[in-house]
Amino acid sequence: MSAKLIDGKKVAEITMKLISDDVENWVKAGNRRPFLKVVQVGTDPASTSYIKAKTRSCKRVGIDTDTTHLPDTVSARELKSIIRSFNEDENIDGILVQLPLPSHLSSHDVIESIDHRKDVDGFHPMNVGRLTVDQPTFKSCTPAGIFELFRHYSIPVKSKHAVVVGASNIVGSPMAIMLSRENAEGKATTTICHKYTKDLTRHTIAADILIVAAGQPSLIKAEMVKEGVVVIDVGINRVADESSDKGYKLVGDCDFEGLKNKASWITPVPGGVGPMTVAMLMKNTLLAAKKSIYPDD
Ligand code: GUN
Repeated sequence: MSAKLIDGKKVAEITMKLISDDVENWVKAGNRRPFLKVVQVGTDPASTSYIKAKTRSCKRVGIDTDTTHLPDTVSARELKSIIRSFNEDENIDGILVQLPLPSHLSSHDVIESIDHRKDVDGFHPMNVGRLTVDQPTFKSCTPAGIFELFRHYSIPVKSKHAVVVGASNIVGSPMAIMLSRENAEGKATTTICHKYTKDLTRHTIAADILIVAAGQPSLIKAEMVKEGVVVIDVGINRVADESSDKGYKLVGDCDFEGLKNKASWITPVPGGVGPMTVAMLMKNTLLAAKKSIYPDD
């Protein structure tokens, strides 16, 4: 293996310790502990396990949390009315509605019903808009976590060609915005690819930094990249594995075994981007708590 490993688990540990110290200082100064309200609609097993990880992380950094479980038959009216009651609750700092939602509910509509000052996912159009015009905001957690990894490993972004595969509202789109902005973190020449892109390899092979968030196992193979590329694999796919107790294993969107001999840096799956996403959620929740007391800071 010639690529150096980007150890998201380790960087997340360091980040979580800093957040935990920050939370304790906040509480010692006489403030209420930050509180994250999670909403789960239905019982999707992947969502349940993501929420478990978020709850565990809250405990670790001293953020209070609970999850409101709603049946997958809940109406948009009921769900939005519950969210509005959380918006008005002064004891709640952050609200996170776990996605995806059942198909009868519009995630856009539901996200817009969250008070943008409590939108710790950074999905509300107000926060996405602020990100786009480079104003302080809740940054979407996965892209924010990837930038923490770049910082930790001193991986330069400025003037590089960054190629983002996947244009989702959660990862690809905010990632591309952040890479391309003319600020201290960005300044990359940025290409966004998606399922309508013709000849994906023509783009990926030109990447200095390749971010893959397509939700397709082994989409990116060694022959699709150039020597020395930085590979950030955001994919978390469950594939059948009879040798595992669970009956499945987690794999990314990249062929790690092939790419590790060609890349200069690479994230593993699991243990790459995932732990950083949760750490950034903790950071945003603490920020929401601080902003609720000191809105002008
Ligand atoms: N589903 C997959 N990733 C996320 C995330 O970061 N936040 C929420 N709310 N739902 C998700």
